[in-house]
Amino acid sequence: MDPMKNQLIVKIREATRRDVPRLVELMKGLTLTMSKAESDGASTIAEYEKVFEHIERDPNRKLFVAEVEREIVGAADLLIAPNLSHRGLPWAIMENVIVDERMRRKGIARELVRHLMNVAKESGCYKIGLSSDKRRAAAHRLYQSLGFDQYGLSFRIYF
Ligand SMILES: CC(C)(COP(=O)(O)OP(=O)(O)OC[C@H]1O[C@@H](n2cnc3c(N)ncnc32)[C@H](O)[C@@H]1OP(=O)(O)O)[C@@H](O)C(=O)NCCC(=O)NCCS
Repeated sequence: MDPMKNQLIVKIREATRRDVPRLVELMKGLTLTMSKAESDGASTIAEYEKVFEHIERDPNRKLFVAEVEREIVGAADLLIAPNLSHRGLPWAIMENVIVDERMRRKGIARELVRHLMNVAKESGCYKIGLSSDKRRAAAHRLYQSLGFDQYGLSFRIYF
């Protein structure tokens, strides 16, 4: 669905410190598998704000939010990594793509991911990729609709 067709105006911008509480709330919707490290404790908003300061200082890390009528309804994270393979061109990965449950199927994630793709391209990256849980069928449709090919296998260990 095209947001313009739906009269929905989606604004994509970089997150600020003030957005942290809302982002923490929204990103709770991303956990399908709880690592032991996560379940062993909880973080305070002050701790999350400290983490955000690191993100903000890192020129290779960008955290974007999608706003509709000044309310944050989605988010997505981008890492651009300097690299020695592939002619020394950087690679990009995206993480934490999420849209508020009440606002899904309105084209918001599509806008966010397109934005990340553009930023990665403008930063000279030779590729952008992501890893997604096998259970996330909706997300897979989203990435395929934007031209991403399913490629290789993804491996991980939770701590
Ligand atoms: C996946 C997610 C980000 C999609 O957000 P969204 O804003 O609803 O997606 P969009 O409206 O931009 O959808 C764009 C396209 O993706 C596909 N898509 C999105 N949700 C879909 C669903 N539930 N079923 C089938 N296709 C879907 C469709 O092709 C859709 O285009 P269309 O609506 O014109 O058919 C959202 O469902 C979400 O936050 N899920 C939980 C977190 C998550 O899985 N994140 C991804 C981690 S890899």
